[in-house]
Amino acid sequence: MKVTVLGAAGGIGQPLSLLLKLSSQIDELSLYDIRLSKGVATDLSHINTNVKVTGFEPSSKEDQSAIKQALTGTDVVIIPAGVPRKPGMTRDDLFNINASIIQSLASAIAETAPQAYVLVISNPVNSTVPIVVETFKQKGVFNPKRIFGVTTLDIVRANSFIKEYDTHGELDVSKVNINVIGGHSGETIVPIYSQSNASKIYKKLSSSQRDALVNRVQFGGDEVVKAKNGGGSATLSMAYSGYKFAESLIRALKGESGIIEDSFIYLDDGIKGAREVKNKTKLNYVSLPIRLGPHGVEEVEGGILGELDDNETKLFGVAVNTLSKNIVKGELFVNKVKSKL
Ligand code: 2OP
Repeated sequence: MKVTVLGAAGGIGQPLSLLLKLSSQIDELSLYDIRLSKGVATDLSHINTNVKVTGFEPSSKEDQSAIKQALTGTDVVIIPAGVPRKPGMTRDDLFNINASIIQSLASAIAETAPQAYVLVISNPVNSTVPIVVETFKQKGVFNPKRIFGVTTLDIVRANSFIKEYDTHGELDVSKVNINVIGGHSGETIVPIYSQSNASKIYKKLSSSQRDALVNRVQFGGDEVVKAKNGGGSATLSMAYSGYKFAESLIRALKGESGIIEDSFIYLDDGIKGAREVKNKTKLNYVSLPIRLGPHGVEEVEGGILGELDDNETKLFGVAVNTLSKNIVKGELFVNKVKSKL
């Protein structure tokens, strides 16, 4: 199992690569960045685990050979490349810079490793995933079961933040499992506490406590941006989340059954359960619980949409509205159609 990290020397890339170096699921780790990835690879290679690490850096802006080498024969590509937010910025403010970075990385993957599973971390995920998909479509290599927007950090935050309301100490926070649906940005993030193993605590909360909890999950990223005070956005919790999703996917690819993770994916008619969700939401991408299998996405578990409480239903409606604009923005970027959006 070979995993390639694109943007491996950045704030997320380094801790993510460390976690992947420690994984018993991986044989080879290929680290690509425009600078420092050889240094990061050398550093990690001193750790005595069985993962072979190699770093690749281009010699000039035009040099495509390094990324090609990094991607050759890879099974899974994880993309944390791009720039992070500064205080006061939304993820959408990153669009202009990150969109072209993602498009060129996606082109390189489509050309060198078209069969790879692609995990997109770079923000704004609601738009960068459509950029990857449209690029793959243009190159004629798109497989909807293999492209994922990583939204795991929203789940990780939802799992952590409910603990504050556990006044009787009943909750083992490491075992909480909240689905978070919609997308990965502000109001598109919808945690579904009502249908979780922490629902007992959630149901006891006042409506203002519930609002505060949901708001904290939706804007948890801002909390980190503010605390880092110009030093970037979440890197360590994001690296953990990307690693967690990658491990689940790899275990499913190796044949383990019953693995479900929430992820932002393209709702292709060929995917079990996708058409129903598309009809219901009018969206062609959304984050929902996804059953993973040996070929990637096996099924979209859209049943959760029928189980939301009133407030979650309202929040999901708002999410859908914003998501549709974010998605179109990514699609149009690749297809260069002029629009008023
Ligand atoms: C976050 O949610 C970086 O998007 C990431 O903090």
